[in-house]
Amino acid sequence: MVEEINPPQRLLMGPGPINAHPRVLRVMSAPLLGQFDPQFREYMRQASELYRGVFQTANRWTLLVDGTARAAIEAALVSLIEPGDRVLVPVFGRFGHLIVEIAKRCGAAVQAIEVEWGTVFPDEALSAAIRKHRPKIVAISHGDTSTTMAQPLADLGRVCREEDILLYVDATATLGGMDLPVDAWHLDVVSAGLQKCLGGPPGSAPLTLNARAERRIVRRRHIEGGLQDKNYRAGDGPAIQSNYFDLAMIMDYWSDKALNHHTEATSMLYAARECARVLLQEGLPAAFERHARASRALTEGLQAMGLKLFGDQAHKMANVTGVHIPAGVDGERVRHALLNEHNIEIGTSFGPLHGKIWRIGTMGYNAREEAVTTTLRALETVLAAQKFRRP
Ligand SMILES: Cc1ncc(COP(=O)(O)O)c(C=O)c1O
Repeated sequence: MVEEINPPQRLLMGPGPINAHPRVLRVMSAPLLGQFDPQFREYMRQASELYRGVFQTANRWTLLVDGTARAAIEAALVSLIEPGDRVLVPVFGRFGHLIVEIAKRCGAAVQAIEVEWGTVFPDEALSAAIRKHRPKIVAISHGDTSTTMAQPLADLGRVCREEDILLYVDATATLGGMDLPVDAWHLDVVSAGLQKCLGGPPGSAPLTLNARAERRIVRRRHIEGGLQDKNYRAGDGPAIQSNYFDLAMIMDYWSDKALNHHTEATSMLYAARECARVLLQEGLPAAFERHARASRALTEGLQAMGLKLFGDQAHKMANVTGVHIPAGVDGERVRHALLNEHNIEIGTSFGPLHGKIWRIGTMGYNAREEAVTTTLRALETVLAAQKFRRP
């Protein structure tokens, strides 16, 4: 028989997952309950309320999609997009391409616009693209961990609302670490994952949607045959092309109707609820400031070592930093030495940045001074062993 799992104690300083908060890990060992147990329904109700705080929204439909962050991206897109819909996707990194890919699979007529990796779109470029392409939906990432850039969204929300366009935002990598006032910025649907600034394990994806999105989704409600009651009437819109990610059924599952759509990922709901409790107990402004402070400490430390930061620093995410691999240094050897000799994980990169930058996260439980100094010290030791000399 193989041994019981006993993983090494790593400090996870990549772009996610990060080390989960100890309180979150503790609640995951709480006893399971049936998903229609009144006590469990109360935990669900509390989770909704807590995530209204995290998303800074009054949206009734604030819930968890079971799965990693892309589960909620798929749920949002497949439930909003009707085949043939025009969807505009501003792409500034790998996760923009992911949105394009999912939207195409949903049958959208996708119009992608791109900027160079390491930059973001000026507000005017987004308004001009909207005027030119007249989409029904705009779908965009807030922070793209592949480039470490954060796209300003306040103006985009206003423009989409004025033009009656639905705006979906992937906030997987920023929720809890950077300000994202969903209602104030007029964001219609926003989703995230636990494994970054929320300080939990991957596997639950918080999502919020407002009344504008609800209207579009509800007219596509088609409940599976075995669950229909005598009062059931299907919506007059086309059925959502996924059962698991059908937000109309997931909303019925979260509501008092308690539709028996899927079996809840019980322990993940406990985890998600605790992530939000930890965050809201600290307070959102304090959490944003802690992320910004950790990021500043990291970037100052990297520059003091003679390393060069990647990308437009005015639009860098507060929780992931890109740093150029210096000439003559083998980036993968450095990462392996950090992992094997210091138990620290940092991120590699992909696409046009492959082999060019490392990505270092300061997120959630690891947005702490101690985690930053431990990482900087180890990196300095490993680079010295590779004969790196400060320029
Ligand atoms: C911005 C962004 N979106 C989506 C994802 C996909 O999340 P997951 O791997 O949890 O499905 C990630 C993961 O790194 C991400 O950074």
